[in-house]
Amino acid sequence: MDNRPIGLLDSGVGGLTVVKKIIAKMPHESTIFIGDNAHVPYGDKSKAEIIALTKQSVNFLLSKNVKLIVFACNTATAVAMNAIQKEIEPQIIGVIQSGALAAAQATKNKNVAVVATKMTVSLNAYQKEIQKRDSQIVVHEIAAPQIVPLIEADAGHQAYVSALQELLLPINKLDIDTLVLGCTHYPIIRSEFEQCLKPKVQIIDPADQVAQYTYNVMKRDGLFGSNSNDGAHEYYTTGDVRMFNELGKIVLDEQYVSAKHL
Ligand code: SIN
Repeated sequence: MDNRPIGLLDSGVGGLTVVKKIIAKMPHESTIFIGDNAHVPYGDKSKAEIIALTKQSVNFLLSKNVKLIVFACNTATAVAMNAIQKEIEPQIIGVIQSGALAAAQATKNKNVAVVATKMTVSLNAYQKEIQKRDSQIVVHEIAAPQIVPLIEADAGHQAYVSALQELLLPINKLDIDTLVLGCTHYPIIRSEFEQCLKPKVQIIDPADQVAQYTYNVMKRDGLFGSNSNDGAHEYYTTGDVRMFNELGKIVLDEQYVSAKHL
């Protein structure tokens, strides 16, 4: 039995969409989440900056004695996961591999689109992972740098719809049957994606598969904690605590999210 918490990190509040799925899948496990809101978005930064910032969050989680770390951030997964995994003992679980698996299993016509940050797209991170599973799948990757800042600012329904109508215009002309939300912020506005996306395209939120994969790894490695109580959940942000708590409440459907400032 291992009662240490699961650590999760993101550039901002988007990673809470992964926290939510992990808690739903493993309600007895405790979690510690750090959102680096002071530096969001990661997707427009250099690789060196993204690695340095991600290392800071990893070191914080290690200081909290976590048993494994989920990179609940596509950009950090694409840029920093492999390098940091070589330096630390706890296993790191990224979101891209899980999202790619879910997309490869979901597409029937082998035509998939991925919306993600500029950095994730420039590295063809999803294309590589999806085509590892099925080289016949055509992957259209589209950068959407305008969306994360809107979500972090809690810009509201109309602002999301306007931005997504423009973003999805070329995507709606493609013969795709699957769209991957390749940034953990995007599921927060999933209903707006559904509103603006052409019919009969299935939306993949990698967080579902991440929660299942994390469960499988913990089972394999004997990392489950006691199942006698509900887990405890701690939230930290490098940014504005009030804003984090407001958005956290929306994402986690909780009465009250009380983050601490780092
Ligand atoms: C960002 O910080 O640019 C978005 C995080 C992500 O890629 O999931």
